[in-house]
Amino acid sequence: MPPATTTAVLFLLLLAAAAAAFPDRFHKPASRSRSRSRSPQQYVELTRPLPYTLLPPACTHRIVTHSFADTLGSPPFTAPYSPPPPSSLCPSPPWSSVALELSASSRGDQYDRIAALWLGGVELLRTSTAEPNDDGVFWKVRKDVTRYSSLLSRSGIEVSMMLENIVNDEFTGIYHVNVTLLFYSSVGSGAGPRVPASQLSAISKLGLGSEELGGNSVNSATLGAAAWDYNPPPADLILSVSDDGDRGSWYWIERGLDLRSKKIIIPANTVRAVLELCVSFHGNDEFWYSNPPDSYLRENNLTTGRGNGAYREVLVMIDGTLVGSEVPFPVVFTGGINPLFWEPIVAIGAFILPSYDIELTPFLGTLLDCKPHEFAIGVANGISYWLVNANLHLWLDHGSKRVQAKSAAIAPTVHHVERESEFRQLDGSFKVKAKRKERFVGWVKSSAGNFTTIVSTGYKVKNSISFTGNGTYKLMKQKMKAKREVTTENEAGVPVARTFVKRSYPLRVITSTLPGSKKDTYVLVTNVSHSQLERWSYGDQSGSVRNSQDSRGWMEVKDHDVLSGTAETKQSYNYADEFICYLRRAEAADGKLVGDNSWFSRGCLS
Ligand SMILES: *[C@@H]1O[C@H](CO)[C@@H](O)[C@H](O)[C@H]1NC(C)=O
Ligand SMILES: *[C@@H]1O[C@H](CO)[C@@H](O)[C@H](O)[C@H]1NC(C)=O
Ligand SMILES: *[C@@H]1O[C@H](CO)[C@@H](O)[C@H](O)[C@H]1NC(C)=O
Ligand SMILES: *[C@@H]1O[C@H](CO)[C@@H](O)[C@H](O)[C@H]1NC(C)=O
Ligand SMILES: *[C@@H]1O[C@H](CO)[C@@H](O)[C@H](O)[C@H]1NC(C)=O
Repeated sequence: MPPATTTAVLFLLLLAAAAAAFPDRFHKPASRSRSRSRSPQQYVELTRPLPYTLLPPACTHRIVTHSFADTLGSPPFTAPYSPPPPSSLCPSPPWSSVALELSASSRGDQYDRIAALWLGGVELLRTSTAEPNDDGVFWKVRKDVTRYSSLLSRSGIEVSMMLENIVNDEFTGIYHVNVTLLFYSSVGSGAGPRVPASQLSAISKLGLGSEELGGNSVNSATLGAAAWDYNPPPADLILSVSDDGDRGSWYWIERGLDLRSKKIIIPANTVRAVLELCVSFHGNDEFWYSNPPDSYLRENNLTTGRGNGAYREVLVMIDGTLVGSEVPFPVVFTGGINPLFWEPIVAIGAFILPSYDIELTPFLGTLLDCKPHEFAIGVANGISYWLVNANLHLWLDHGSKRVQAKSAAIAPTVHHVERESEFRQLDGSFKVKAKRKERFVGWVKSSAGNFTTIVSTGYKVKNSISFTGNGTYKLMKQKMKAKREVTTENEAGVPVARTFVKRSYPLRVITSTLPGSKKDTYVLVTNVSHSQLERWSYGDQSGSVRNSQDSRGWMEVKDHDVLSGTAETKQSYNYADEFICYLRRAEAADGKLVGDNSWFSRGCLS
């Protein structure tokens, strides 16, 4: 073979290997930003503000001040926790609302990192970092944590935070983190978007413009659990389904067969149980939704570990029985796909990762025997690695020490996965269609009466990946639609409460791989469209979120370093419930915020 052809063939292989492994995780060398302004830049995740945080909190309580430098392999940061002592300023529990504020900064060269914060092993926040530069970056996020009130009022427990980072000659970015709790005792009640009239008028008095909101990016962060905002009192007790090892409270899941579990005894007077699942995906599964099957990698002699097909499902079992599952929202971290897309507007969920609620009340019939039960979490088809753990929220009967319960009609779950795979050399297409349906029923008789809980859940996922142009053009499309309905009936069979949540997470990623300007570089042209669409109703209240990002651009890369490129991201965030309507439109181009407008109004649903 003449040398020129050999080079061309080798180059095609390099491009194909890059395309197959794509999306990937990249790093922006810090020096790339040197020509820009010298002041540190603020990063932001677009969400709606928590209305109550527009008023000053009654008191604040710092729980973490720490710098995460070369922390890889070290145990988590820990500190003792006690709530602020009640005073004239600081109310004693119950608080009307509590928000958690994390502020972080970094400067230098660094990859994005995953982090989590736990209190007594219960996860309060899963977050990821922005990739810094030589000028420095900083950000601030607020999450509503009112639902953890019973835990926040406890003394003598430990707060812990894990953020594994590498600092050496090449990677210099240290992440400085402060976490503060903001306690509110204000008039009105309720967390989340439920705005008492007094606060609404305060909001309009503030005459909010986008700037105020821009500096105050907040999120209630329960993508999978929007209805939570409407579910009144926080649980009486929250138990952790998490690891107690020294690599953080999350379980590391490296294979589809790994199930990690904990034995838990449930109080005999529990009337309601909800498991909140916390999930993130990394390594070869960071972009699980775009992984081709192993047969494609094998037959093309591709060395990437990003395989095992594109379908994953996080499973929750009790004593070996499946009680719930979740196909998670595909959060893209700041180094993901094209890091230039995520400066300074990060991808949906990157700073406040969503958690997912699974209603377990129908299973109380088998859990209230004062014996340990095994709660297990796994990731179907997962490859290395996933970080998962869960918080078990329990509501107790204050009028009795023991309630009666029975799990009835636990229907077998309906579950189908269909896969289609067709390829010739590097070109081909792969499809996965999956659906699951579950219905669980059980009654609990407490001092409040005998109520039956009926849980119906279901989801559908459609994923397709195609490679053309000798594997250099990759198109990934995923649609995930989920429904959850929880109905409570009294003894006469009359519904007394109903929660309905509908979610849809469409994602499309296009990548075209081209030769670069030098022999060891290549150019990736990428388009990403991503949405979080949710509607919910709880009794006579309802609301919706429509949050969409569209990004496009290109970058030239060498290994995992971004050498140059241009990128733009447009985002539109619409929130509506029967009290308020909030819209925000923002646009970033080549690392700068070039547009950011928001509007608040009343009663947009009517
Ligand atoms: C953390 O708080 C300290 C003051 O206690 C402040 O000097 C520092 O800048 C804060 N860091 C971040 C990242 O907010
Ligand atoms: C993969 O490697 C094997 C063994 O080296 C070789 O026979 C085969 O032709 C290669 N396939 C491709 C598509 O390059
Ligand atoms: C794919 O590669 C083959 C051989 O290397 C070449 O003949 C063909 O033109 C390429 N096709 C495209 C669409 O680039
Ligand atoms: C509670 O209600 C269910 C459904 O109506 C019924 O089957 C069950 O026997 C009741 N339990 C008790 C203890 O009355
Ligand atoms: C990205 O989208 C734009 C506009 O929709 C289109 O012109 C461009 O060709 C797309 N890029 C790729 C790589 O498909």
